[in-house]
Amino acid sequence: MALLNWNAGYCTGNTRIDDDHRALFERINDFHYAWQQNRDRKDIARVLDRLVEYAEEHFAREEEIMRVCRYPGLARHQAAHEALSAQIFVLQGHFAEGRIRIDRDAVDFLRGWLVDHILAEDMKFSAYVESGAEPSARQPVSDIDAV
Ligand SMILES: [Fe+2]
Repeated sequence: MALLNWNAGYCTGNTRIDDDHRALFERINDFHYAWQQNRDRKDIARVLDRLVEYAEEHFAREEEIMRVCRYPGLARHQAAHEALSAQIFVLQGHFAEGRIRIDRDAVDFLRGWLVDHILAEDMKFSAYVESGAEPSARQPVSDIDAV
């Protein structure tokens, strides 16, 4: 069974952000699967690299959408993304250098790394857009496809 299963509770209402989040779920599931299959270190490193690369692209896209919407929480959100990047770079680096083995804790860490951020932080942006607090953001959030 997949580690992460998408459901409506993860939807921010912005199709571009939600598509990215779904893709990140898939990459974390790929990582989990590679670990479960006991694949060799190089294979797992490649899967992890793909996840990190996509996460970086996603963070930039999401921040651009927030900028277009004049989201007042943008600076705080960027700081949260920077912290997430720093955490995953440490994991990636330690694994590449052979300083850690991937174990259940690492898999659970990655799951929380993404899911906690979506539910705690990305949902604040969703609520902001839905509230119509900023005139430029009053269009349905699903129509905002800035990037
Ligand atoms: Fe985010």
